[in-house]
Amino acid sequence: MASGSLLRAAGLLALLGRADAVPLVSQAQTTVSSQQTLIPSVVPHTDVTSHGPFNGPPATTTGALSTSVLSPFIPALPPAPDVFDYQADGELHADQPAPFTPSGGVGTNGSAPVYRVQSDFDYQSLALALYQEWIEYDLFHWGLATFSVEEFEAYGINAEDRYLIQYMAEQELGHATVITNMLGPQAPKQCTYNYPVSNVREYIDFNQKLTRWGESGVYGFLPHLNSGPAAQLLLQSITVEARQQLIFRQFGGQFPMPEWHTPGIPQSWAWTLLAPYISSCPYNQTRLVWQNFPALHILNQPNAARINGSDVWNETTGGSSNTLSTADIPSSELCVNATDQTLDCTAAISQNRSIPLSYPGHQVFLQWDSPGQLVGPNNSYVTSTNVIEPKFAAWVSQLNVTYSPLLNVSLEYRTAYTIQPNVSTWEGDPAINGTMFLALTDVDLYVTPYNLTQINLHVGALAVYQAG
Ligand SMILES: *[C@@H]1O[C@H](CO)[C@@H](O)[C@H](O)[C@H]1NC(C)=O
Ligand SMILES: *[C@@H]1O[C@H](CO)[C@@H](O)[C@H](O)[C@H]1NC(C)=O
Ligand SMILES: *[C@@H]1O[C@H](CO)[C@@H](O)[C@H](O)[C@H]1NC(C)=O
Ligand SMILES: *[C@@H]1O[C@H](CO)[C@@H](O)[C@H](O)[C@H]1NC(C)=O
Ligand SMILES: *[C@@H]1O[C@H](CO)[C@@H](O)[C@H](O)[C@H]1NC(C)=O
Ligand SMILES: *[C@@H]1O[C@H](CO)[C@@H](O)[C@H](O)[C@H]1NC(C)=O
Ligand SMILES: *[C@@H]1O[C@H](CO)[C@@H](O)[C@H](O)[C@H]1NC(C)=O
Ligand SMILES: *[C@@H]1O[C@H](CO)[C@@H](O)[C@H](O)[C@H]1NC(C)=O
Ligand SMILES: *[C@@H]1O[C@H](CO)[C@@H](O)[C@H](O)[C@H]1NC(C)=O
Ligand SMILES: *[C@@H]1O[C@H](CO)[C@@H](O)[C@H](O)[C@H]1NC(C)=O
Ligand SMILES: *[C@@H]1O[C@H](CO)[C@@H](O)[C@H](O)[C@H]1NC(C)=O
Ligand SMILES: *[C@@H]1O[C@H](CO)[C@@H](O)[C@H](O)[C@H]1NC(C)=O
Repeated sequence: MASGSLLRAAGLLALLGRADAVPLVSQAQTTVSSQQTLIPSVVPHTDVTSHGPFNGPPATTTGALSTSVLSPFIPALPPAPDVFDYQADGELHADQPAPFTPSGGVGTNGSAPVYRVQSDFDYQSLALALYQEWIEYDLFHWGLATFSVEEFEAYGINAEDRYLIQYMAEQELGHATVITNMLGPQAPKQCTYNYPVSNVREYIDFNQKLTRWGESGVYGFLPHLNSGPAAQLLLQSITVEARQQLIFRQFGGQFPMPEWHTPGIPQSWAWTLLAPYISSCPYNQTRLVWQNFPALHILNQPNAARINGSDVWNETTGGSSNTLSTADIPSSELCVNATDQTLDCTAAISQNRSIPLSYPGHQVFLQWDSPGQLVGPNNSYVTSTNVIEPKFAAWVSQLNVTYSPLLNVSLEYRTAYTIQPNVSTWEGDPAINGTMFLALTDVDLYVTPYNLTQINLHVGALAVYQAG
């Protein structure tokens, strides 16, 4: 397409406008010149923030945002009474509202869509997503500014690849702008950050893990939003985030998508995983309602920088993200320059890994933090859990939550191990693979993708697991 777009539809332009531009409706515009008529501005931002751990004065407000809490949990109920009423037989069961239009659907009656949050659930979910967009904007730039060209090239990431990382940072500004517009003037602002990585390989791994929980965090709440219009716009950003996640796996020489489905996770999981890397936020920053769970450390987290990724002990950095560390890997054990084509892992569209990172039957050693730790912006959130003694590991991947018992649980050292289960989502699709999630729980509660949040009452600690 030519650079000047010729036709713009009503509504869309205003979305990219001022932070307080609510409701978001504009006039239709049609132009016949190649001159751009209007360039909506992005949200205020700085290209480089300061980095490092928080060392300011203690926060005056701590803990998650809250109001009156009516019940300790939401009781499980049977399905809504009418959900089996519709006859799914391929026939039409009602008059059509218009030609070529079946009856039903949500938001299909002609009411003009309004792109704004409609409930506390919507606000808090979008605000969480906005914190995530902001860190990505900073993180992608930060790596390019921090590591040398030589170091990127040593991992097969060339100048054109680095431009892709820069472009991915710029995409985040659009995402942050859209979400800010839907939230209004109190939308969370850009913060400062603290990254747990010290070289290109660790940076790429942190990125593929961070974008995984960013992506999965949105999938978890998207179908629950009150505002369909807000869900629509967020969807159109998160599909880009999904591509970013895949591309960072490719930069790390990993198989780009070793699964048939991408998991969704509760908001409190996304916030648990994200918050430790935010060091400080501006005065009066809007706070979040979500819980911060204690970090779970995978003591033998599979390390994708190794030729034999399961031959590891204590090679992670960055708490619950369990990002790979290359600090103790001799160069002969790095896969990036392995001479055997089936073992190498230089940046590529796809790479077979002939020694799997993890596998059914694998013994996974775990250690978890105690609750009550200060985390997140200005150290102003506090980790918490209801769990006294964890009994299960919940493997959250694809469409599945699979429990395996914890063995040798030591409450004194907060350690245990578990065995990776052998489960498939469908025939031909092993459920446990890719960049996924591991939680410790006290019961093996039956939950499915749309009600996964019900597990939170039983979560003791949380990790990203590198299954493949
Ligand atoms: C979650 O949903 C499944 C049905 O998909 C239901 O059987 C289960 O009881 C629900 N779990 C909770 C804790 O509500
Ligand atoms: C159309 O649907 C919306 C909800 O999506 C509802 O608020 C509105 O009243 C409906 N309009 C008419 C004319 O039925
Ligand atoms: C891989 O090999 C290339 C070519 O010999 C070299 O320039 C690069 O530094 C090596 N990468 C690593 C991570 O050792
Ligand atoms: C967080 O700390 C920074 C730096 O000390 C300070 O400027 C800011 O006002 C603090 N933010 C909040 C929300 O307290
Ligand atoms: C802080 O935010 C509140 C609304 O959340 C606003 O009323 C108040 O004016 C803000 N204070 C400052 C100093 O910006
Ligand atoms: C990889 O490492 C694991 C753990 O040390 C070991 O059991 C396995 O045999 C190794 N695989 C290969 C192909 O060397
Ligand atoms: C893991 O490594 C870190 C730093 O390299 C060290 O401080 C810690 O004691 C090690 N933990 C275990 C369980 O080996
Ligand atoms: C890649 O892995 C697949 C599945 O294990 C295998 O069928 C294929 O032969 C491998 N290809 C190469 C070139 O290693
Ligand atoms: C994970 O997916 C990769 C790529 O398809 C495959 O080589 C590997 O065997 C899978 N791992 C498991 C445990 O199925
Ligand atoms: C997993 O289960 C399948 C089907 O029962 C079996 O063929 C396979 O050998 C099992 N894998 C492991 C590692 O036990
Ligand atoms: C589990 O605990 C028993 C008894 O303390 C010990 O003998 C065994 O080595 C432990 N197993 C693992 C895998 O740590
Ligand atoms: C995985 O999830 C799918 C979809 O909900 C379900 O049909 C399947 O039974 C689950 N598999 C396992 C092993 O739990």
